[in-house]
Amino acid sequence: MTSKRTARLARALGLVSAIALVGGLPASVALSADGPVTPAQTLHPEKWPAATASRLIDPAIEKKIDALMAKMSVEEKVGQTIQGDISTIKPADLRKYPLGSILAGGNSGPGGDDRAPAQAWLDLADEFYRVSVEKRPGHTSIPVIFGVDAVHGHGNIGAATIFPHNIALGATRDRDLLRRTGEVTAREMAATGIDWTFAPALSVVRDDRWGRSYEGYSEDPEIVAAYAGAVVEGIQGHYGSKEFMKPGRTVATAKHFLADGGTDGGRDQGDAKITEEELVRLHNAGYPPAIDAGVLTIMTSFSSWQGIKHHGNKQLMTDVLKGRMGFNGFIVGDWNAHDQVPGCTKYNCPTSLIAGLDMYMASDSWEQLYKNTLAQVKDGTIPMARLDDAVRRILRVKFHAGLFDKPAPKDRKDVPAISTLGSPENRAVGREAVAKSLVLLKNQGGVLPLSPKAKVLVAGDGADNIGKQAGGWTISWQGTGNRNDEFPGATSILDGVKAAVAAGGGSVAYDKDGKFTSKPDVAIVVFGEEPYAEFQGDVETLEYQPGDKSDLALLKKLKAQGVPTVAVFLSGRPMWVNPEINASDAFVAAWLPGSEGNGVADVLFRNKDGKVNRDFNGKLSFSWPKTAVQTPLNRG
Ligand code: BGC
Ligand code: BGC
Repeated sequence: MTSKRTARLARALGLVSAIALVGGLPASVALSADGPVTPAQTLHPEKWPAATASRLIDPAIEKKIDALMAKMSVEEKVGQTIQGDISTIKPADLRKYPLGSILAGGNSGPGGDDRAPAQAWLDLADEFYRVSVEKRPGHTSIPVIFGVDAVHGHGNIGAATIFPHNIALGATRDRDLLRRTGEVTAREMAATGIDWTFAPALSVVRDDRWGRSYEGYSEDPEIVAAYAGAVVEGIQGHYGSKEFMKPGRTVATAKHFLADGGTDGGRDQGDAKITEEELVRLHNAGYPPAIDAGVLTIMTSFSSWQGIKHHGNKQLMTDVLKGRMGFNGFIVGDWNAHDQVPGCTKYNCPTSLIAGLDMYMASDSWEQLYKNTLAQVKDGTIPMARLDDAVRRILRVKFHAGLFDKPAPKDRKDVPAISTLGSPENRAVGREAVAKSLVLLKNQGGVLPLSPKAKVLVAGDGADNIGKQAGGWTISWQGTGNRNDEFPGATSILDGVKAAVAAGGGSVAYDKDGKFTSKPDVAIVVFGEEPYAEFQGDVETLEYQPGDKSDLALLKKLKAQGVPTVAVFLSGRPMWVNPEINASDAFVAAWLPGSEGNGVADVLFRNKDGKVNRDFNGKLSFSWPKTAVQTPLNRG
């Protein structure tokens, strides 16, 4: 079999790592799925935005790093560059394998329980921390850093304030609000002893069939660029001020570098077949402002550019990001994503470190990867200078994060208490975000805003379904199967409607299927996509409910009975819903609002004096398609 055919076959089978079967090429030669990379795929750092200032370099910190590194063994240095997932690593393992970091992936929770309460997270963070710093002969005490996907609030925990996903925040056009969502997320994380979030995603989403569309603020690079700095500042505090990384702040991650939203066909982890000019102009837009805001880590993308996997792209990570753009924090990999680099497996991948990756996300592969990487440093495959640079960057972040000064997670007095998760103040920010993100797509005859004195029917399977309104990355990776009682303190959209109508003196009846005994003045029908995350959410077309149309049938049934209907559409992307829009009197894109469903009623209803309570404010940050196959569709 020729190497080209092997590669094609591998790709067809979805076994990208099987490209490693192509023998005889040195690790430094990049391969695309179709063969060796041609010189046309070279990047030109001078065409990328130059760093505006040197960030994160503080001479006092650099001296501390020098002193620490002088004491570290090569084993400890290699350990810093590897992160294991809590589903496979236990605190005691750190005694044998001195890893620098742990994470809890989307499906991982303390003690193997995705639904573990906040206290269990704090306990676990505390245990790992204590082992990492304990005094033992031959051990350099370096706090481990714990990362989670707090991508819309501290969403691993049902009691937390769960914000609308980024697609909704994109519609608010409110930078200060975005900053505040970052602040609340960081505070709630800090309460559970976790110091690092893999957020914000700075994806510029160019094909809405992508299952991660909702993680991006916009298809428009200007909007992403306008938010990037604000969110990073919210999470980490204002760089250069006393607020930066003070207790109650956490380390942010700009992700996924680069062009995760630019892959062909919107395929997750796919290939961006675009020019270097588009990489710079579209997909890189959010990174310079994030770097200016002092973002401490950047996650490299699973995806590739012109066939070159980012996890092996030295020009992009080293020459462009660290060199030209002056990023001085560290680059973390994605979930075993180094596995997709030609010549690598998840257990063995010197190419990534050599190319500029500083920390491997070696979820379940950390033990073998640690052993192999150590051997490769010892035999010179990985230059010591590269390892030292990676370790320096990781320690730099840990010093900025105050990890060497903070006590153990359970002993931290100056961070919010666990009881503040989902506090009224925090939820108020979520509710504001929900209200500001709603986009009115149709309002025939001025049905909206509704009177709270009305007789209201609420229908649709999204009306009383907090899991559905929160979407993916909520409690579990996919966000499926979550029950309302797993979100203590949260409100469904129905709860919000009931409260608004109770205040106004009207009445509410709820029936999922829209049945009623006495005719309502108006029906609010809440429906939309089921939760999904990553590649599980990739779709072929943007048609809503292909081959099913049960929600359309519900809308039509109400219309036929002469009931004016307000459709509230829950989705992680714009979709082709023309039939549903035509069957409704008013149509609201509500995205994935998260735990504060009452923010929806704030806009749908007038207040009890008949005045507009909160006007519609949201503006689309994604183009809405006219047909199911109108993709890609983007401004400009
Ligand atoms: C995702 C990242 C995430 C990581 C850890 C990956 O599969 O692509 O966005 O941060 O998992 O859960
Ligand atoms: C993890 C996620 C991760 C995904 C990647 C899941 O098992 O829980 O965090 O993003 O795998 O494929």
